[in-house]
Amino acid sequence: MPLFKSKLGLIAATVGSAVGLGTVWRFPAETQANGGAAFLLIYIACAFLIGMPLMQAEFALGRGTRQDAVGAFRHLSPDRPWWLVGAVAVLASFLILIFYLVVGAWTLEYLVASATGYLYEGLDAAMATSARDAYFTDIKNELVATSWAPLVATLVFIVVNIGVLLAGVQKGIERMSNIMMPMLFVLLVAFCCVTLSLPGAGEGVRFFLTPDFTKITPAVCINALGQALFSLSLGMGILVTYSSYYPDNTKLGRTSFTVVAMTLMVALLMGLLIFPAVASFGLSDHELSGTTLVFVTLPEVFARLPLTGLWSTLFFLLLLVAALTSTVSIAEVTISFMLKRFKISRKRAVWLVLCPTFLLSGVCSLSFGLLSDYTLCGMVMFDFLDTLTNNYLLPAVAFGTCLYMGWFAPRGFLRSQLTNSGTLGAPTASASMAIVRFIAPAAILAIMISYLI
Ligand code: PHE
Repeated sequence: MPLFKSKLGLIAATVGSAVGLGTVWRFPAETQANGGAAFLLIYIACAFLIGMPLMQAEFALGRGTRQDAVGAFRHLSPDRPWWLVGAVAVLASFLILIFYLVVGAWTLEYLVASATGYLYEGLDAAMATSARDAYFTDIKNELVATSWAPLVATLVFIVVNIGVLLAGVQKGIERMSNIMMPMLFVLLVAFCCVTLSLPGAGEGVRFFLTPDFTKITPAVCINALGQALFSLSLGMGILVTYSSYYPDNTKLGRTSFTVVAMTLMVALLMGLLIFPAVASFGLSDHELSGTTLVFVTLPEVFARLPLTGLWSTLFFLLLLVAALTSTVSIAEVTISFMLKRFKISRKRAVWLVLCPTFLLSGVCSLSFGLLSDYTLCGMVMFDFLDTLTNNYLLPAVAFGTCLYMGWFAPRGFLRSQLTNSGTLGAPTASASMAIVRFIAPAAILAIMISYLI
C-alpha cells in the first residue's frame, strides 16, 4: 500500500487538489457577483465551520479504512448500501475529470500563446478598450472554441496527467506537488506585489476587503457555502482517496486546518491580485465570471503592464499548475477504485481511466465549436456535465457522507480517527462531530433545495 512519504508532501498534495481553478478563478468571479467582502467573510466562515469538519469526516473514512471512495463505506458497513454514496462520488469525479481536463488544456494553450507572443501580437497601443475587448474575445473564441487547438491541447494535457499518475503516489503525485505548490505560492505573492503597487489599486482592495453587510442575502450565503465546498474538493471522493495514503500518525484535525487555511490564503491572494488590477486599469465594470475574467480581462491587464509577455506567461503557468494538481487528484479517485476493486496493476488502472478521456474530453472540447449543435437537456456537453456534477452529484455525496459519518458509521469511529485512537487531545473533535451530525447536513440540504427550485 503506497503512502505519502512526508508530512509536507501530503499537505502539498492535498492543498494542490483543493487549489484548483475553482479556487483561483471561480472564487473572484463569485465574489464580484455576490457583492465583494461580505461574500468573502461568509465564504471563510463556511470553509472553517462546515468545510473543515466535513473534510475531517472524509479524512477519517480514507485513513481509517485505507480504501477507495466506494471501498471505504463497504469496509465499515458491509451489509448496508452506503457504498452507493461512494459510487456516486466516483461517478461524479470521473465526469468532472472529463470537462476539467478541457479547462486545464485552455490554460496550457494560453501559456503557449503568452510565451510565444501570439496572444499580444496583433495588439496596437492606440486601441481603445472596446477594441481590445474585441481583440481578446476573438482570440478566446479561437483558442477555446472554433479552432482545433483546444482539442490538441486537451490531448497533450491528458498525456501529462498520465505521466504523473503512472509514476505513482510518491514519485508522481507527491513529488509533483512538492515542486509545484511552493512555486504557485511564490508566483502568487510576486503577482500581488505587482498589482498592489499599481496606481489606483486601493479601490479594488476596498471592494474586496470592506464588507457591505446589506449585501448578505440567503442566496449569497448558499453561494458562499457551495463555493467553499467546491474549493475544498469536498464531496468528490478526492479527500477519502488521498487520506487513504496518509500515514497512521497523521493528525487529521490539524491537517484539515492547514489545508483549509492554505486554500483560503490562495483565494485571498487571488482576490488581491485581480481586484486591484482591474480597478487600476478601469476595468471594474468588466464581467469577471466564466472564461471572460482569465482570458479577456486579465490579458488586458497584462497588456498594460511592462514585461507583458513575462507576466502573462507566469500567470498562465500558475493556472496550469493549479489545474494539473487538481486533475491528477480527481483522476486518482477512479484509479484507486479500479485498483482496489478489480485488483489490477496501477499501470493498467491509469490507462483504463485515462484512455476514455481522450475521446470524452475531446468531444467536450469540441462542444463549444464543431459540436455546439449537439445538446443534452438543452446544454452542450461541457455545460451539462458541469451542472450535473456541481448542482446535483457533489451536494448529494457531501450530504450522504455527513449522514453516514454523523449517524450510521460504527460507533466511535470518527472520534477514534480524529484522536488517533485516543492518543491525541483533539479538543475540537466533539465540535466537528456535532457539525457533521446536525449543521453540515442541514446546510447542504439548503444548497440542494436551492438548486432544485
Ligand atoms: N477544489 C478544486 C478546485 O478548486 C476542485 C476540483 C478538484 C475540481 C479536482 C476538479 C478537480 O478546482
